[in-house]
Amino acid sequence: MTRAVTESSREKTAHRLLRSSANKFYDPEIDIDWDAPLVEGKRYLPEERSSLYGTQLWDRLTPEQRIELGKHEIASIATNGIWFEVLLMQMLLKEVYDADPTTEFAQYALTEIADECRHSTMFARFSERVGCPHYGPVPWRKRLGKLLNVLAYGPAMYGSILVAEEILDRLQREQMNDPDIQPLVRMVNRIHVLEEARHVTFAREEVKRRMSTLRGPERAYQQWLLAVVSNEITHSLINPNVYKAVGIRPRDGQRAAEANPYWQETIRYTGERIMGFLDEVGLVGAPGMPWWRRSFLLGAR
Ligand SMILES: [Fe+2]
Ligand SMILES: [Fe+2]
Repeated sequence: MTRAVTESSREKTAHRLLRSSANKFYDPEIDIDWDAPLVEGKRYLPEERSSLYGTQLWDRLTPEQRIELGKHEIASIATNGIWFEVLLMQMLLKEVYDADPTTEFAQYALTEIADECRHSTMFARFSERVGCPHYGPVPWRKRLGKLLNVLAYGPAMYGSILVAEEILDRLQREQMNDPDIQPLVRMVNRIHVLEEARHVTFAREEVKRRMSTLRGPERAYQQWLLAVVSNEITHSLINPNVYKAVGIRPRDGQRAAEANPYWQETIRYTGERIMGFLDEVGLVGAPGMPWWRRSFLLGAR
């Protein structure tokens, strides 16, 4: 049973996070050497994290094409990261709108929005620096995302924030110290991982606090909404247009990735930590099961 997080503990957490934000934060404009040359022949993404790894399409790619595909995939993940962050900022601003701005809770929410502004700029600059087009979500999904700000509130809102943040975090943690990965990718990941740790603490506590106030049908709605959003998150990561960079038709690449057990396992791996938490607090339930299964976050069942 999850312990209810009280108002005073919310302020205490916000206070601690505000202090930590003041002590340790990055300015990617200054802290990243954007002019440093990219390292010839070095990967942008571990091969086994590529969406096509292990498929017949992968077997036909040359080593250079595999690196090229990884570069476009990571640019797709980074620009979808911008999409997630922009949606997240909208939701947090909604919180600030309703909150007492003199509380540390509201002030931390504003601080987190400021962090996300820097991150989104960093991801945009990264994508531009490595020479990739703007991927982001496919157009229909981008339109659908506009609904999130209207539909999401309560624990599913913070739960959606957590799914996006923790999926990226798991991938980035794995790569930030990997000597086989481009130094620019490692630095971007390191900055993001460090600052996201605070966001994850904040959102997890809010999920717990809000779950304790839910009753009856509202619980089912929250479980349903979170599953639907999480399914969109996992399927948005790789924009099918990335496959064009290595001469694969987007539709063929997407189909191969969706059926690829290695890619499904990567998604399960990225969601492992957050799914355990969401299950424990009661946000993974029957109303959302069809979407959870489609999302690959539950793994092979
Ligand atoms: Fe971020
Ligand atoms: Fe964040």
